[in-house]
Amino acid sequence: MTLNALPPASIRPATLADSQAVFEAHQDSVLTLCAGAYTPLQMQTWFEGRTHQVHWPAIQAGQILVAEREGRVLGFAGFVPGEVTLLFVRPEAAGSGLGGQLFRLAMAQAEIGHDGPLTVVATRNSQGFYERHGFVAKEASFFVRGAAELRYEVVNMQRAER
Ligand SMILES: CC(C)(COP(=O)(O)OP(=O)(O)OC[C@H]1O[C@@H](n2cnc3c(N)ncnc32)[C@H](O)[C@@H]1OP(=O)(O)O)[C@@H](O)C(=O)NCCC(=O)NCCS
Repeated sequence: MTLNALPPASIRPATLADSQAVFEAHQDSVLTLCAGAYTPLQMQTWFEGRTHQVHWPAIQAGQILVAEREGRVLGFAGFVPGEVTLLFVRPEAAGSGLGGQLFRLAMAQAEIGHDGPLTVVATRNSQGFYERHGFVAKEASFFVRGAAELRYEVVNMQRAER
């Protein structure tokens, strides 16, 4: 083993005890990896008024997978039938294959009990990642955050029929 070899991340369903660490990984991922695709004001406002409790309903529904290495949450994915709803990797783990690994597991969960193509709502910066996984852009959309009701441009995408 070389000095900088790291053990692989393990992936498991999140519990409520993970919610703070998941929220911190969420912020770390967005504030670094999305920064080039949105304005400084959008970045400042992204998490306004939100806490780790934002992930409680999905965790309680068993719809969040968390990736960790040596107790540190490196990323997570969320799903509901038909859609992968969340996919965030910390910058220190980005580009290592972890996002793809989480995404494939979340897609497998989203397919359960669902007929028809899977969908994602892609941030501007992640559209290329989803295209590599066989998704195509369907329509421009946006979500709204903060007291100022800022709009964040996103792309609704759908997995091409196989
Ligand atoms: C999108 C994200 C999850 C990808 O995670 P990752 O761990 O870096 O991805 P991987 O290392 O598994 O990359 C898999 C492949 O996709 C490519 N890829 C990764 N991000 C990409 C991007 N933004 N655009 C195009 N290709 C990308 C990689 O080069 C790699 O290609 P390869 O298999 O040919 O080497 C990660 O960049 C992230 O968390 N971004 C910020 C949060 C975000 O916007 N999430 C999407 C919310 S909808």
